[in-house]
Amino acid sequence: MTLHSVILGTGSALPKQRVSNDDLAKRVDTSDEWIVARTGIRFRHIAGEGETTATLAAAAARQALDAAGISADSVDLIILATATPDQTFPASATKVQALLGIEDCVAFDVAAVCSGFLYALSVADSMIRTGAAKRAIVIGAETFSRILDWEDRTTCVLFGDGAGAVVLEGRDGAAGILATKLHADGRHNELLYVDGGPSTTGTVGHVRMKGSEVFRHAVVNLATVMTEVLSTTGLTAADVDWVVPHQANARILDATARKLGLSAEQIVVTVDQHANTSAASVPLALDTAVRDGRIQRGQILVLEAMGGGFTWGAAVIRY
Ligand code: UT7
Repeated sequence: MTLHSVILGTGSALPKQRVSNDDLAKRVDTSDEWIVARTGIRFRHIAGEGETTATLAAAAARQALDAAGISADSVDLIILATATPDQTFPASATKVQALLGIEDCVAFDVAAVCSGFLYALSVADSMIRTGAAKRAIVIGAETFSRILDWEDRTTCVLFGDGAGAVVLEGRDGAAGILATKLHADGRHNELLYVDGGPSTTGTVGHVRMKGSEVFRHAVVNLATVMTEVLSTTGLTAADVDWVVPHQANARILDATARKLGLSAEQIVVTVDQHANTSAASVPLALDTAVRDGRIQRGQILVLEAMGGGFTWGAAVIRY
């Protein structure tokens, strides 16, 4: 018997308010031309009153449960990847649990910023394959708009809010998560971080990033981890149908694809519509491509992400 974590369904949620580059140019010294040329971003969604990481996460989870055709109370594990929890504690995953009406399950948050969804997916997969869980909801959800410095044009134009989710179940067979690979290198804290926290300043803080240095690391680390994770499955880049990447910058997506010899058409791109939604970006892109029919059952997917820490990782899935 070969137990794999199979994706039964996907879902996503975006805040109501959609903000264009021109809207931002009214607030900070920037332009649609600069943002599109440097990042590929055209729009982002920004959470309004009553919209939080947990409410977006629960909406995405509900959609994934519907797509999977299963009821919430059959889930025994919720992992929420986020760097913008509703409260410092308890874990926002427990709030999602309550919103979904699940009385008892395991629920916790994972903090790995933009690669959080890959970290959460890997932990859920391990728990499923060891028998610690049978059905899991894995969510990436963020409200980065609440930790942006809206005076800093080098960061505030890059991020957006949203959530994406998958429902996983352990099943015997060839489909499911084939491999995951995670990395962290804590020496690069000062390249991408938040300048506050409960144990240092007692404040929430704002995102700070040395963008061009993060860019250089991202292209190298992402290409390497994708090759690494594929090699553990015996597959090569030629076997890959779709790459579902972290959506930070269209130029990073192009450069990474080129390094692996993949065509631009095989990369799922949503950065133009959602901007960088941190932990939400991979599951949001996955759900988009599942719902529009690009991703089909049986296809080989590579998911990848890199973010603050640095942390980075990739997964190979037979969908
Ligand atoms: O999600 C985690 C992973 N994050 C990433 O992967 C992000 C990686 N980095 C990037 O995507 C890019 O580095 C950025 C999009 C953040 C920046 O692009 P860049 O081509 O690296 O630009 P830069 O930081 O080198 O800045 C170039 C110029 C600067 O002006 P000077 O010094 O050359 O006169 C900036 O001040 O662009 C200026 N600039 C802006 N101009 C208009 C920076 N932000 C803006 C802005 N509008 N919003």
